[in-house]
Amino acid sequence: MKKSINTFLKHTAKDFHNQSVNPPVVRASTIIFKSLQDIRKMQKKYKKDPRGGHFDYGRQGTSTTHILQKILSELEESYHTFLTPTGFGSVFLAIFSVVRPGDEILVADPVYLPTRLFTETFLKDFKIKTKFYNPHDLKTISQNITSKTKLIFVESPGSNTFEFQDLSNIVKIAKNKKIFTAIDNTWATPYFFKPIKIGFDMSIVSATKYYSGHSDVMGGSLAVNKKAFKYVEQTNKITGLRLSPDDAYLILRGLRTLDIRLEKHQSNAKKVAAFLSKNKKITLLYPYKKDSFNFRMWKKYYKGASGLMGLRIKVKNKNSIKKFINSLKLFGYGYSWGGFESLALHQEIVERGYRSYLNLKKDEHIVRLHIGLEDAKDLISDLKNAMKHIK
Ligand SMILES: Cc1ncc(COP(=O)(O)O)c(C=O)c1O
Repeated sequence: MKKSINTFLKHTAKDFHNQSVNPPVVRASTIIFKSLQDIRKMQKKYKKDPRGGHFDYGRQGTSTTHILQKILSELEESYHTFLTPTGFGSVFLAIFSVVRPGDEILVADPVYLPTRLFTETFLKDFKIKTKFYNPHDLKTISQNITSKTKLIFVESPGSNTFEFQDLSNIVKIAKNKKIFTAIDNTWATPYFFKPIKIGFDMSIVSATKYYSGHSDVMGGSLAVNKKAFKYVEQTNKITGLRLSPDDAYLILRGLRTLDIRLEKHQSNAKKVAAFLSKNKKITLLYPYKKDSFNFRMWKKYYKGASGLMGLRIKVKNKNSIKKFINSLKLFGYGYSWGGFESLALHQEIVERGYRSYLNLKKDEHIVRLHIGLEDAKDLISDLKNAMKHIK
């Protein structure tokens, strides 16, 4: 009988050798062998099966990172999963594995700002051209594809503005033209949506967020299909990107409760969304309004929604936005999200960057809320109190 992923996350990685329900943290730079012949034997095994957890040096990992890779590959339903020291490391690894000088890439306009800066600015110096597509108009993909296009990089939903996209159609366009596809799936995680299953070549999750879930560790995962594996494997070897066994252990510990936490983030976020949707000055950037394109696209691909949402707020006075956020007592002010706690930020240009397709009017502002695991009633009453300042 195939176990559900919820059961798998609780029962996996037991260590009967040390008699612990959790795997050991194995720290190593030198991997030690009993003889020289054993080193060669292991190296042969690695050549035969590069995914099999055969190491001759600590940069390739240890049993702790290998166990995490196996768990994530099961969750992603992927051929393999690479680990990086941060989520952004996985963005870098995905892109660098497949693009070369002279290539072009197409990137979702509302992509995470460091991804935008990396592709638009940094890659330009390597003669790689980036074009941005409109997440709600896929003609801007077809029209911008040339014989040089190597990769379509999706982030769904978009950072800060939360655009849900017609993902199968993006994959279809790419496959027709033999173009690689990568997606940043940090918002949903493969618990709510599995990109490799619908045909993406690469799927990124910042493990810093929901995987670890406790705002105390950083990491990234890059799940791949068989086609992308050989490209990423080669690049991974030479970049020196490696997740530490201690961080891998903390991420693995977080994964035990990923399902429980995400379900609670979702139910809290839905209650908060229902409350906020009553305010005429606020447009919710969250899959809530059933007749919207965003909701339809979310429903088509996702099994659930996490705790991160945007509010597009129309106000005469910009200061009232600041007052609103500063009056919140249960929402912390700070970057990142996906931990157990609620957070709030005003998303200005430094967070959003200059977009090609966002028509934000002068009197419109974006506030990002991360809805944590507190009691939803307390969060709603905190928001209710602070919203008096929105004028
Ligand atoms: C959507 C998304 N992708 C990637 C990252 C980068 O992850 P990390 O902070 O672990 O490098 C972030 C971080 O905020 C993010 O929001």
